[in-house]
Amino acid sequence: MVILLETSYNRKKKIDNTIVKIDVCDIDKSQIIRTLTDTDVPDFSDYRRGSVKSPNKKGSDSVDDRRAFTYFMVGTSIATGSYAAKALVLQYVKYMAASKEVLALAKIEIKLSEIPEGKSVTLKWRGKPLFVRHRTQEEIDVVRSVDITTLRDPQRDEDRTQKPEWLIVIGVCTHLGCVPMAGLGDFGGYYCPCHGSHFDASGRARKGPAPANLEVPPYSFPSDNTLLVG
Ligand code: FES
Repeated sequence: MVILLETSYNRKKKIDNTIVKIDVCDIDKSQIIRTLTDTDVPDFSDYRRGSVKSPNKKGSDSVDDRRAFTYFMVGTSIATGSYAAKALVLQYVKYMAASKEVLALAKIEIKLSEIPEGKSVTLKWRGKPLFVRHRTQEEIDVVRSVDITTLRDPQRDEDRTQKPEWLIVIGVCTHLGCVPMAGLGDFGGYYCPCHGSHFDASGRARKGPAPANLEVPPYSFPSDNTLLVG
């Protein structure tokens, strides 16, 4: 026996009939009931992979295909994430690195022939004043004859200079950080007017509140006429 179930909606729309088998208590199970439904089912075929479109195929038949897709997606995500992380780290490192301007000032090269004997020049090095003094033989003799046991910061001039005629020190007073003046003071070296500290021609603290000698920066002489500080 065949039963045709219709609704007013389906009669109007005339959609395809669907043949299904159902259990109905007063109908034999072998009977076929033809029914029309009111439900419009969207077609997702365009979005489904070809290997899973057929309802007659087992899931295990397409497992390799689906796994390959999953691995591809995971691998692509990891690669993209790694690239983004690398770009972020590089950007941060570049941001934190010293600028070219700062690097250029990390070392300075000075032509010694431009500093006459008996003169002290003031340069800028890493944001601080740098004193380069071309000492006379008389100045050298005086600072090397000092009894270092009488100094508040005992240091031999020989240990503060690489060449006797050249004194290289940072021009920052060791008291409170003022910039001393060259060629002044009781010892012919440097004088800090802020609180009256006196330094000799070796940059050693001799009088006033400065507790330590002027600092000697790292330097070298790449050639007879060149001084490299830094
Ligand atoms: S800062 Fe130079 S004496 Fe005080």
